[in-house]
Amino acid sequence: MTPKHTLLSILQSADTVISGETFSKRLGISRVAVWKHIQGLIQQGVPIMAHSKGYQLADDPDCLMPWAFGELSKFIHYFPESSSTMDEAARLAREGCPDFTTAVAQRQIQGRGRMQRVWGSDAGGLYFTVVIRPEIPIVLAGLVNLAAAVDMAAFLRETYGVNACPKWPNDVLVDQKKICGILSQMEVEGDTVRHINIGVGLNVNNNPEVHTPTAISLKTLVGAKVPRREILAGFLARLKNRMRDFDPVAVISQWKEKNATLGRNVRIVTLKETVEGLAVDIDDQGGLVLRLADGSLITVIYGDCFHF
Ligand code: BTN
Repeated sequence: MTPKHTLLSILQSADTVISGETFSKRLGISRVAVWKHIQGLIQQGVPIMAHSKGYQLADDPDCLMPWAFGELSKFIHYFPESSSTMDEAARLAREGCPDFTTAVAQRQIQGRGRMQRVWGSDAGGLYFTVVIRPEIPIVLAGLVNLAAAVDMAAFLRETYGVNACPKWPNDVLVDQKKICGILSQMEVEGDTVRHINIGVGLNVNNNPEVHTPTAISLKTLVGAKVPRREILAGFLARLKNRMRDFDPVAVISQWKEKNATLGRNVRIVTLKETVEGLAVDIDDQGGLVLRLADGSLITVIYGDCFHF
């Protein structure tokens, strides 16, 4: 542990002001050196308050910096500003980062959505990409994306009491309004997955309703600001648990049990074509089964899905 890390963990475990002298004794360095390390941490954005009697960590439950995540901290890469967390995650994955490494950004300059759309990244939203390295065949990769949406929806329902449901292929809606979008990128080797980068944009304390009436934020739903760190940590814990022993059958049955798509008339738009039909099922790889107007069944494996 570097002196900065030790300093931080002392601050985190204390609920009172700690004097420069206490730090100096515990770290075996001078008070001036303590002061320099404290200034370094403040410059990195750590909210340390300096009192006449010493130092104390300001309580900011919305802080997304790695140190605030406790034992998860070594997996969190924080960016005050990024082109897109997808870019950061792609780089981290290329560099061989461990499973569940997560890039999180306060702001994205070029946030992207599915089907080559722009993903606006207003202040207050939660924007992150997690790199996972599941040992599964390529054919099951689509189910990992469904699983991410199932897990986010379940977490939001259980923690905040909102009626969140996954929408095919991998959005999360609350009462037909979009609260979360998921974009994933995969790299393969032979017929197995090398890594899947799952990018999540969640409307938390931003106001998407202003420019997109079909979207909603958690703050609007619960009537108060919600700490984004709690959401990120809770979602990662859930997904980690899921991936420990990935069960495709469980993903499908959980998705079917609570989703916003089955039983609705939908329009599926791909870059090549548009089809309309009644969403009747999902198959064992997560494809959406539609009944067309002539009664025939078709399965779509990707595309934008509009409910009507
Ligand atoms: C969609 O609904 O089209 C998917 C949106 C995914 C947005 C997230 S925000 C974090 C990550 N970085 C990006 O540029 N996109 C994903």
